[in-house]
Amino acid sequence: MTINKIVFIGAGNMSGAIIEGMIASGVSPESIHTTNRSDEKCRYWAEKGLTAHQSNLEALQDAEVVVLGVKPNMMNDLLSEISSAIPKHATVISVAAGVPYNNYRHFLPTQTIARTMPNTPCLVGTGVVGVYYGDQINQATVELVESLFNPIAMVHTCKTEDEIDLVIAAAGSAPAYFFLFIESIINAAQRLGLEPEAAAKMVKQTALGAAQMTVSSTDTPQTLRRNVTSPGGTTHEAVVRFQNDGLEQMTEHAMRDCIARAKEMAAQLTLNK
Ligand SMILES: NC(=O)c1ccc[n+]([C@@H]2O[C@H](COP(=O)([O-])OP(=O)(O)OC[C@H]3O[C@@H](n4cnc5c(N)ncnc54)[C@H](OP(=O)(O)O)[C@@H]3O)[C@@H](O)[C@H]2O)c1
Repeated sequence: MTINKIVFIGAGNMSGAIIEGMIASGVSPESIHTTNRSDEKCRYWAEKGLTAHQSNLEALQDAEVVVLGVKPNMMNDLLSEISSAIPKHATVISVAAGVPYNNYRHFLPTQTIARTMPNTPCLVGTGVVGVYYGDQINQATVELVESLFNPIAMVHTCKTEDEIDLVIAAAGSAPAYFFLFIESIINAAQRLGLEPEAAAKMVKQTALGAAQMTVSSTDTPQTLRRNVTSPGGTTHEAVVRFQNDGLEQMTEHAMRDCIARAKEMAAQLTLNK
């Protein structure tokens, strides 16, 4: 599907990951336009061959797809500023956590809206994105959104808006859980005596290998773990320690907190009509 003009409003970490992933997958930089509050990021994208605009309103002229990439607490103000400049038949894709679908619908009565939850591995073509289409789901929009994200992410369609919060906990925020665990193993390895550089290299390579095995194998993660955990062996000692110290429960608590925060943000950001 050819898109002549896609405009990213707010080109920070998340939009940047999507843009880099799209360019790496062969999308022409010429079809991508960006705006950003600070000039520095505009200059960065202009150097990559994108058209970087100073003005949001100017950028939106003739846009076919508009990606809203600002922080959740800025979204309502942004919508109020730009909604009248978004072409009536454009598809508007938001990546913001916690901003309810009806906020977009309030400002954009005619446009097609997709509320999405991507994660930053889109940058390297292995992202995940959850998409909620609200009451306007139609095949053409699904095809357009999937054609944009498929080259850089696994796309999951959410049947309800609540499901987006589950995607936040399981994928949107989840790269940070893995980074934290990798960080913990590296730090512990250093405290136990490994050279810092060697520890970081080995742990990162192990994370990559384990991730590749989980996606390429037909075995479940549980079977893969059992395959390398001989009773009475060294791995068994470590795994039992993780289990006895409550890793499973701690993970669920963390994800529940993540979901609760998403709902709290939605309550704060819901427009009082
Ligand atoms: N980071 C993640 O892992 C992740 C994952 C899923 C979803 N998200 C969602 O992605 C959104 C952005 O998060 P982020 O981490 O990418 O934040 P970020 O790096 O701060 O990016 C937001 C960008 O928007 C720009 N901006 C702010 N107001 C603007 C305006 N009125 N017009 C144009 N540009 C404006 C900012 O400019 P400045 O240069 O001045 O700051 C900044 O570069 C959030 O809504 C978040 O919920 C993030």
